[in-house]
Amino acid sequence: MTDSPSSAPLPAGPLPAQATLREALAAMTQAGLPALEARMLLTHVTGLTRTQLITRDTQPLDAAQHAALAALLARRLAGEPMAYLVGEREFYGRPFRVSPAVLIPRPDTEIAVQAALVRLTGTQAPRVLDLGTGSGILAVTLASERPDAQVWATDISPAALDIARANAAALGADNVRFLESDWYSALPDDARFTLIVSNPPYIAAGDPHLSSGDLRFEPVDALTDHGDGLSDLATIVAGAGAHLEAGGWLLMEHGFDQGEAARQLLRDAGFAEVFTERDLGGNERCSGGRWPGGNAG
Ligand SMILES: C[S@@+](CC[C@H](N)C(=O)[O-])C[C@H]1O[C@@H](n2cnc3c(N)ncnc32)[C@H](O)[C@@H]1O
Repeated sequence: MTDSPSSAPLPAGPLPAQATLREALAAMTQAGLPALEARMLLTHVTGLTRTQLITRDTQPLDAAQHAALAALLARRLAGEPMAYLVGEREFYGRPFRVSPAVLIPRPDTEIAVQAALVRLTGTQAPRVLDLGTGSGILAVTLASERPDAQVWATDISPAALDIARANAAALGADNVRFLESDWYSALPDDARFTLIVSNPPYIAAGDPHLSSGDLRFEPVDALTDHGDGLSDLATIVAGAGAHLEAGGWLLMEHGFDQGEAARQLLRDAGFAEVFTERDLGGNERCSGGRWPGGNAG
């Protein structure tokens, strides 16, 4: 195998046999991948940094790297999300492992983290519950930002909980405990929290978004309640009072057009100080309220 000089003409079409790093990059962009994505796939299969891709651009891919890259290129061209191809997505400044068993972390979900941190300010050793933790982004981020907190995280999916546990371990968040549970069902009756946070499935059944873009590849049970989009939000609101300390908070992410419905659910259940935060695009995205009542136990 010989290195191509940097001045050699670039190959066209699919990944050429015995491609150098430079030729592989060119082939991927010519096949339609944005350059940023092509570099991400190349760093992923070679283990090189972005700088090394440039300084070693005449280095050939070995056979295993070539096969891995060709497979990833085909999957990306078929629409599979980058996060599943490289197995990672950043959230709140930390790298989270992801797989097709979990929702891909969204920047808008950082709104829920900020809303939670504000409401935990001034409370020592808060008790936090994340319902439907998925990859664990909310639980692990809050546990990392507030190392004095005791965080519980539930999900109905054992495969998601495996990913969440791996993320907690990799990020050193040893103040999170994970529980397989249908919302509150497996929690001890007397478990009480300072704050409950959730990003539940809130897309209505039959919504055309479910069959387009990245969502086609994400777990359907993480996306939709298989109903009107509000049923899981309603279940979470209905059960929260039994697991909140007096003065505790419930925060839920929801769809851009579900703010009023979420506020109504919270008010009807007896929550006070009901509020909604907007996302980076200006849409209503996260609503919550404060539980005024006391709880025996
Ligand atoms: C929209 S995803 C959110 C995941 C993660 N919290 C995030 O923000 O990326 C919803 C999560 O709720 C979980 N889930 C769905 N139904 C559930 C139920 N009945 N009880 C507990 N978790 C559930 C799904 O498995 C999924 O991980």
